[in-house]
Amino acid sequence: MKRPEVISHITAMQQASRERRKTGTLGLVPTMGALHEGHLSLVRSARKACDTVVVSIFVNPTQFGPNEDFARYPRNLEADLTLLEAEDVDIVFAPSAAEMYPTRSSGTFVEVPAISDRLDGAYRPGHFRGVATVVAKLFNIVGPDLAFFGQKDAAQVAVLRAMVRDLNLPLEIVVCPTVREPDGLAMSSRNRYLTPSERVQSLALHGALSVAREQTQRGICSGQKLRETMLAELQKVPEACIEYVEIVDPETLEPVEDVCACALLAVAARVGTTRLIDNLIVRPDVGRSCE
Ligand code: PAJ
Repeated sequence: MKRPEVISHITAMQQASRERRKTGTLGLVPTMGALHEGHLSLVRSARKACDTVVVSIFVNPTQFGPNEDFARYPRNLEADLTLLEAEDVDIVFAPSAAEMYPTRSSGTFVEVPAISDRLDGAYRPGHFRGVATVVAKLFNIVGPDLAFFGQKDAAQVAVLRAMVRDLNLPLEIVVCPTVREPDGLAMSSRNRYLTPSERVQSLALHGALSVAREQTQRGICSGQKLRETMLAELQKVPEACIEYVEIVDPETLEPVEDVCACALLAVAARVGTTRLIDNLIVRPDVGRSCE
């Protein structure tokens, strides 16, 4: 294996992409670094599907609110590069904040208003505007044929799919399943903030989703009933401070009353100072998760 080429300037990245795309397909995996097996599953899917794999590592300031964890977000480029070398990644695009958001910027943003204030967007004002803007910039800089995202961030997937559709962006979004710890906790760069007792409490999220999924498998399709079940499960762990418990259409993120087709069960809670999210997609009609 050889170390991925690290590019930090936009013009150099655009040039490298142009060259690579002359001879084959290019896949992009956008990340904020602090990589774990969840990120690496996206990289492996990209490696299988594309001739060139580019991973971007950029902790994007515009998607963090003023009281969020931008300053303490884990950053370790060297460790990330070692992991990506083992996955045979070709290029790592790791720009500075000044490169991505120069002071001469006119403040252009990308907004997806119909979806951006749902789920996480309701609790993190401006978050999805920051995500859509940085991902649109990454798409323009890297020019991928395929871009890989995790189902773990279901609302982000809905926002980015809508952006690609509305703006006719010439690429395909590939969504990869959520990778979990053996006990069910969805992997996240933020899990490293958890103390040992919070780590145990954090299992409440996946626990609540799993109980609701079991109910759908037993034919319970009432959104209200399933929501009550998830709330009751989460409330068994009082340290988990619930933000939302929702059952929505995975594409529009609009609430679903009767879970008769594919539905997204989504939860968010704070455990200590750490905000955790998780979700499952269920299709009661076929009695299994369609994730
Ligand atoms: P980040 O949180 O670093 O996640 C990068 C990608 O990895 C996202 O598509 C996310 O959904 C996926 N991912 C994270 N945990 C996962 C897990 N346990 N299983 C599967 N996939 C997982 O999401 C972002 O960064 C940013 O918002 C970004 C899209 C890079 C824009 O700044």
